[in-house]
Amino acid sequence: MRPLLALLALVASLPAAEPAFIPLPAKVELRDGRFRLDASTAIAAPKALANEADYIATRLRRAAGLPLPVGASGSIRLEVDAALPAEGYVLEIAPAGVRIRGGSPAGVFYGAVTFLQCLPAEAFGTLPAPKADWSAQALRVEDAPTCSWRGLHLDSSRHFQPKAFILKFLDAMAAQKLNRFHWHIVDSEGWRLEIKKYPKLVQVSEAFPARYPEEVPTNPSLKPKYRYGHLHGGGYYTQADVREIVAHAARLHITIVPEIDFPGHSMAAMIAYPEISTTGKPPTVVSNITTDLIGVHPTALKFLRDVLDEVMDLFPGQWIHFGGDEAPKQQWKADPYTQRKIDELGLRKVSKDHPEDALQGWLFNEMAAHIGKRGRVAMGWEEIMHGDNLGLLRKDVAIMPWLSAANAVRSANAGHGVVHTTVSPFYLDSRQVDDPREPAALYGGPHTLEALHRFNLFPQGLTPEGRRNILGAQGQLWSELMPRTDDVEYQAFPRACAIAELTWTAPELRADTAGFIDRLSRHGERLNALGLNHRRVPPPAGLGWSPAFLASGKPWVSALPGAAAERVRPGSTLRVGFRYTMGEHGLGIEGVELLSDGKPLASDTHVGFTGTYPNNPDYRLAIPAGAKLGRLELRIRANGAGGGDSHGVVEITVE
Ligand code: ACM
Repeated sequence: MRPLLALLALVASLPAAEPAFIPLPAKVELRDGRFRLDASTAIAAPKALANEADYIATRLRRAAGLPLPVGASGSIRLEVDAALPAEGYVLEIAPAGVRIRGGSPAGVFYGAVTFLQCLPAEAFGTLPAPKADWSAQALRVEDAPTCSWRGLHLDSSRHFQPKAFILKFLDAMAAQKLNRFHWHIVDSEGWRLEIKKYPKLVQVSEAFPARYPEEVPTNPSLKPKYRYGHLHGGGYYTQADVREIVAHAARLHITIVPEIDFPGHSMAAMIAYPEISTTGKPPTVVSNITTDLIGVHPTALKFLRDVLDEVMDLFPGQWIHFGGDEAPKQQWKADPYTQRKIDELGLRKVSKDHPEDALQGWLFNEMAAHIGKRGRVAMGWEEIMHGDNLGLLRKDVAIMPWLSAANAVRSANAGHGVVHTTVSPFYLDSRQVDDPREPAALYGGPHTLEALHRFNLFPQGLTPEGRRNILGAQGQLWSELMPRTDDVEYQAFPRACAIAELTWTAPELRADTAGFIDRLSRHGERLNALGLNHRRVPPPAGLGWSPAFLASGKPWVSALPGAAAERVRPGSTLRVGFRYTMGEHGLGIEGVELLSDGKPLASDTHVGFTGTYPNNPDYRLAIPAGAKLGRLELRIRANGAGGGDSHGVVEITVE
């Protein structure tokens, strides 16, 4: 055989590769052959699936430069199959055509996202790539999500993001099958939602210029001189903007959950309308968390109902979030009207020690009843169940425990829907890896990809009913230290991908975190196409440690991982770096040896440490020029450095 033909034969016989799906589907079977898109490819979809057909067509027209008409016939067929779970789908790709069946339009949509993940990454982008290989491996995917709530939260108050960014952010969420956008749209620093009845609300933030960059030093390794209470520039969403954003989200099967936070975190509202505050006077201390609270008097209640009426007109989704976090009660304790209200409502009987918390529960129930008249359901941060409120709150109220996993269990067992939002690992305004070059973070961390991916959605102590009440999980993007949309993107991605897989893929199927990191390293191309400033994830080295491994006491001898073994030559240098990812403790390293057929070939035996403050964690092993290389293994001597709760990966490069 001539060499070129030999090469072609080799290519033809390459095994079919599974696309790097994120999130991992429930079941994937590879088949023979490929489906090729060309100028004659058309999409067949009933009217009810026009939106899903358009999602595929718009992207592929742009990227592949093909006409892709949508009509009654075509080789890409979309169908609803009511026998499937509502968000579930079956995707079949064969050389002759593609069929996507979904339990509802949402299921078809997720099948469409999986189909696009079988094509070049440019399918998710805005730039033409007509020269890419517009073909897909034949396969069959059967899939449905584990959790109904697969969310991201974004703070648009502390720093305002323009409408175009929100639209892009929603596109990026949909590409990972995330379906809840919790929009933190009002806070002390700025009320960002136009309310026709109260036009002054959105003017407050405008009156205060942004104080960045004095607050956030340009050297991120310095502790930020960040102070609460600075109002971070103007900007708000008009009602027309919101309608456009809501319509875009609906096309992507994303429900927007707007958050109107009260009675705390409400400085902007009380500066605009002092009559709604507890005392009826403007707030005295301008700060993020303050004892200045919205009151429970008729003017305040009317304000909240009026605002919620306009919010419900704008946002058609089931949930409205009322915040309720970080509202210290000193002002309510000192205010005679508020105290009389507590007496009148008999709230000292509900809670002798925390009657003001009970009053917050009552206020929450009042507003939940108000939106309940229009079929809407209230949610709140964990504080709404603090004190003795679990018996007081309406059962339909859903809770986001951000302070304690134990309160997630208590709330779920008490009958409330629960979305996991605990600071660790779900606050994404933290570093994602332990590296001083990472952006300054409000919350320490690192809150890593691995911690998100391995999070236990169903902690011990849940009753069977409590387990059913776990709706899912969500990442939080507080924007105090994210003045630019690039910053938001960097903190959100790729950690949002880990949250997508955590909430979509069944626990037993996502046990292989290294496999996830490997898929994620390839998924990065799609994040590039989406135009995101994401953190790049290198493919895994294939070697790592965990508490279970350290406890096993086994000697750490491992075959040199494939990619390194292929590149290593006599005379080259092997670099072995230890990278702590999470845990209470670091790892002490005593030395690294390269063995060939069991005999030492090269070594570096300096003492190193990796952890929050790494010290010499990189090892260089010089392989003698004349060495004969046999079966290569690494022997690593390491210890748990004062405790075994340490996780990390070993990076191996050949120089
Ligand atoms: C919060 O972080 N205050 C919910």
